[in-house]
Amino acid sequence: MKGLILSGGKGTRLYPLTYTRAKQLIPVANKPVLFRVIEAIRDAGIDEIGIVIGDTGPEIRQAVGDGAQFGVAVTYIPQEAPLGLAHAVKISREFLGDDRFVMFLGDNVLQGGISPLIADFAHHDDWNSQIVLTAVEHPEQYGVAQLNAEGRIARLIEKPKDPPSNLALVGIYMFDHHIFEATDEIAPSFRGELEITDAIQWLVDHGYSVYPHIHRGWWIDTGRPDDMLTANSLVLEELTPAVAGYVDRDSEVDTRVTIEQGAEIINSVVRGPAIIGRNTRIVNSYVGPFTSIYHDVLIENSEIERSIVLEHSAIRDIPARIQDSLIGRHAAVDISALRPRAIKMQLGDHSHLELL
Ligand code: G1P
Repeated sequence: MKGLILSGGKGTRLYPLTYTRAKQLIPVANKPVLFRVIEAIRDAGIDEIGIVIGDTGPEIRQAVGDGAQFGVAVTYIPQEAPLGLAHAVKISREFLGDDRFVMFLGDNVLQGGISPLIADFAHHDDWNSQIVLTAVEHPEQYGVAQLNAEGRIARLIEKPKDPPSNLALVGIYMFDHHIFEATDEIAPSFRGELEITDAIQWLVDHGYSVYPHIHRGWWIDTGRPDDMLTANSLVLEELTPAVAGYVDRDSEVDTRVTIEQGAEIINSVVRGPAIIGRNTRIVNSYVGPFTSIYHDVLIENSEIERSIVLEHSAIRDIPARIQDSLIGRHAAVDISALRPRAIKMQLGDHSHLELL
């Protein structure tokens, strides 16, 4: 089997962070979501992976390289515009050949691995496709499946106004080569895209076997800032803690905390689950649960909780606790020593600042 990861999206809902960085490269618990997806596919025993890339392609190529760092071989497939998930499959035909494959959206985080799912599909040569479904609160925001009395797929609808069930299509799909017949036949949807949902419906309508798998753990589509924070919290809870950095005698560090190499915790309290990245310094501060501080950050005389801070940023002398925040790279949050005392900001486009 082969793997196909779709990583073409621009991530407009995560502006301003995604003006300067591919959304799939934003870290969750200090590891880019895309890396987690590559590892999940590799851990299922697949070592040939195609990555469909768009505008952020150069950055993704630079971060992932030829895949050797993950023990897989990566082929890049450029998509000239975001024309839909089924379009991405269509342009990957040469890479995929006649092999069966798993397709994974590059911004999805799923509890547990996908190994059992892949094994299931690999052992059933007669299955043309397997899709993953999960119960959600707002099915109208997703592709939705209606099952028949035998629990098989009856109908699939993309973003239905009136959802026939609460079972959403999770961004993981398995196919054999018959999917190319479908992607050649379907027409663009109301949003002008070739929808994978329509392609799978085409398979069902033409007598191919599509099996549902109901996922019972958590699943996060990291489209919006709060999704990132939720995914971060969930992944942090599953992390096996390890302390490789330095903790001084005046500090108090919870057992569910990971401290990476070169990090220093000085006269501070860190409550887990949390992760402190390489060469980051936490000085006279409090880092609360569900927080990921990436590498080369300084947090001094401040308190922060349920937040993500990206590399090379500095937070100093903030009198109130920072919470539920996503702070980008090379950001500085501090207090001016000079009069007049005032709030001074240099915020990027689409930034959001909530003051006390
Ligand atoms: C896509 C699919 C949709 C699926 C969702 C999962 O939606 O079209 O069927 O439920 O991913 O994340 P999009 O992210 O393009 O809105």
